[in-house]
Amino acid sequence: MRTAREAGSGRAMRGATGPIAPALLPDTAAALGSGGLAVGGVDLLELARAIGTPCYVYDTGTLEARAREAARVFVGGAAYASKAFSCVAMARIAAACGLHLDVASLGELRIGLAAAVPPGAIVLHGNNKSVAELELAQARGVGRIVVDSLDEVDRLEALQARAGGPPVPVWLRVTPDVDPHTHAAITTGRFDSKFGVPIVGGAAAAARERLQRSPAVRLVGLHAHIGSQVVELQPFQESARRLAALAVSWQLEELCLGGGLGAAYRGDDRVPSLGDWAEALERGCRAGGLPPSLHPSAEPGRSLVARAGITLYTVGTVKRLPGGRTYVAVDGGMGDNPRPALYGSRYEAFLPRAVAAPRPLPAAVVGQHCESGDVLVADAQLPADLAVGDILAVPVTGAYGHAMASNYNRIPRPPVVFVADGRARLVIRRETVEDLLRLETDGPVPLGGPG
Ligand SMILES: Cc1ncc(COP(=O)(O)O)c(C=O)c1O
Repeated sequence: MRTAREAGSGRAMRGATGPIAPALLPDTAAALGSGGLAVGGVDLLELARAIGTPCYVYDTGTLEARAREAARVFVGGAAYASKAFSCVAMARIAAACGLHLDVASLGELRIGLAAAVPPGAIVLHGNNKSVAELELAQARGVGRIVVDSLDEVDRLEALQARAGGPPVPVWLRVTPDVDPHTHAAITTGRFDSKFGVPIVGGAAAAARERLQRSPAVRLVGLHAHIGSQVVELQPFQESARRLAALAVSWQLEELCLGGGLGAAYRGDDRVPSLGDWAEALERGCRAGGLPPSLHPSAEPGRSLVARAGITLYTVGTVKRLPGGRTYVAVDGGMGDNPRPALYGSRYEAFLPRAVAAPRPLPAAVVGQHCESGDVLVADAQLPADLAVGDILAVPVTGAYGHAMASNYNRIPRPPVVFVADGRARLVIRRETVEDLLRLETDGPVPLGGPG
């Protein structure tokens, strides 16, 4: 068995109509003698037969390798941003590989705790944290709460007044007003943002005063996250510089510079490595005057999990419009991967039965949901002999796919399978329509409670 990287190297046919680029596949992807593809030693076609489609397949080798790499390159530590892909099995991998866990909701927090991540290694985010979230975080001794608004400080004070306890260590989330040159919906660190408080104009300074006066919190650091799917290093470096300068003037020693490093989704995409990103953050911190003894931490999500994941579908219809496009419809769509519909994200597709085959057929890979925007790969290139019944794979779907999946059209969400060493492990089972029906009820709502 040759690795897909070996099989793909030196191939004469390159570019859009050539075989899928090995760089888009998980680390353990290996071409099989049959022309097929194994990931984690598991033949993807055999897996599709065993578990059905659609399904999310994750290579645990890639997950572990990226998590260890992040733990190594970020001298100041790194937390896995679990919003990118949150489940107990993933949280366990992150913790076992030396990462802390960033959670941004009660559900993500509960999953981290269910995975036995030490509470002290958990960082709680959220621009509108509920009392329930803060209560659980405080009761379990979550390591850091990232204060995003002053209303949240009021809630922490009320909690402390009720439950007692020492002040909780917090970071203040600030917006450095840096443009990360990514999609507007995932740009988070400009002046005009629902997240954090701006450095410019004095809001951050006012928040600091409020925190310093509060008996419920202890300000120990600063946080910023400029956005996601960021592929340039300069915005990261500039954000680091601005935060470092503030941390120095406020005599704070902890500095977390968020996540955001982009992933390559198509063969011609180029992204910096985790190491390059870590160096840019360090450079920015030095430029901002942070002493060499202090190092920033980070919160990578996408860059750790995107390439580890592949989604498998079955082709159900192939519609060749006379003089128009070819539509290849699969048994999934925007319900399991809303990113193309939300952000215009671009992917590639290939057939796992013929991983090294040329892909001369231009086609739109579409889903089964009731809208024309339900497109998974608008400009796919596929093998010419593609047929109904083929298993079709979309690589680099490990981040914000399962995490953002919905039940639109009452379609149950696909299962998650981890593969390694020739074995497949079901870590999230397939939803069923019965699961959805179980939520249906017709009970009275007791009104007139405490008002
Ligand atoms: C506060 C925070 N940290 C980390 C991340 C992870 O970002 P990414 O998955 O792009 O690395 C996000 C994503 O939105 C975030 O909001």
